[in-house]
Amino acid sequence: MSGAGARRLIGMNDIPTVSADSVPAASGSGTATPVSGLLVGKVAFVTGAGRGIGAASARLFAREGARVLLAARTEHQLKAVTEEIRAAGGTADHVVCDLADPASVQAAVDRCVELYGRLDVAFNNGATGQPPGPMDQLSEADFDHVCAVNLKGPWLAMTAEITAIRATARRGAIVNTSSVGSLMGNPELPAYGAAKRALNSLTASAAVTYGPEDIRVNAIAPGTTLTEMLREWDEKSPGTIEQLNAQTPLGRPADPEEIAQAAAWLLSDRSSYVTGTVLRVDGGMRA
Ligand SMILES: NC(=O)c1ccc[n+]([C@@H]2O[C@H](COP(=O)([O-])OP(=O)(O)OC[C@H]3O[C@@H](n4cnc5c(N)ncnc54)[C@H](OP(=O)(O)O)[C@@H]3O)[C@@H](O)[C@H]2O)c1
Repeated sequence: MSGAGARRLIGMNDIPTVSADSVPAASGSGTATPVSGLLVGKVAFVTGAGRGIGAASARLFAREGARVLLAARTEHQLKAVTEEIRAAGGTADHVVCDLADPASVQAAVDRCVELYGRLDVAFNNGATGQPPGPMDQLSEADFDHVCAVNLKGPWLAMTAEITAIRATARRGAIVNTSSVGSLMGNPELPAYGAAKRALNSLTASAAVTYGPEDIRVNAIAPGTTLTEMLREWDEKSPGTIEQLNAQTPLGRPADPEEIAQAAAWLLSDRSSYVTGTVLRVDGGMRA
């Protein structure tokens, strides 16, 4: 057995025993994906968990056996998703967190350890859009806000998460939500695309830095996904969803759960040799 394999087994001994039998069945949230206990025994921290991809992920991670802490700014959304997870038999709690506020990010990760005694995996998914349009028409304040939430936010989160994983689970995995927009020019969303491309770089750097500690760091790059962020873009620039579908070989947008499935796999031990990658979950848009 390789050194990495030995580390893995040592780490697994630290995981509280929870059998796959105790994993809650799929909730009635419109998804019927069979659960396999992918995240049994893990404590997961999810940002942007009040709606969209983050909410779908929190629900899925709980169904797959994780205890989940949901974070975002809008408390009533967090509360609703948390209650839904609990009603389906899962374990979840929530914390209000603004990714643009360093103290708030640290406090949210601390809360995870306080609640569950450990942190194994983190999904840094929360982000903001930008007013669509050419870069010369973007205000400096909007540019700064996008960078603060979408780039500095994940950096702050990763910094706190690495410390927490090291101190508790001692091995783990992090997934950052990038975007297919990070892989191309974005005439409509230039600051958003730039921040996401920088996040890919930060992801690779983190993977190289923390790989020796058996902490894997990857990103997912979703394509068109039916959430409030996309709908808002489509409202401001009518026809956007149709145009994006036309550029997508699968010919349709993703359901948020389809993005959550990729994150769940990357956070699970089934992807144990995958680190430093940006996984496109884009219906083939950039193939
Ligand atoms: N939908 C797509 O087509 C698409 C495509 C590529 C990538 N993505 C990425 O996927 C991720 C999830 O987006 P989504 O589509 O699910 O959008 P969404 O439905 O608008 O959800 C965004 C989440 O991020 C949170 N958030 C925004 N600003 C925040 C802040 N300052 N601090 C903490 N949380 C904040 C929001 O909650 P609060 O507003 O309550 O804080 C919300 O929970 C994002 O990283 C996005 O860039 C989406």
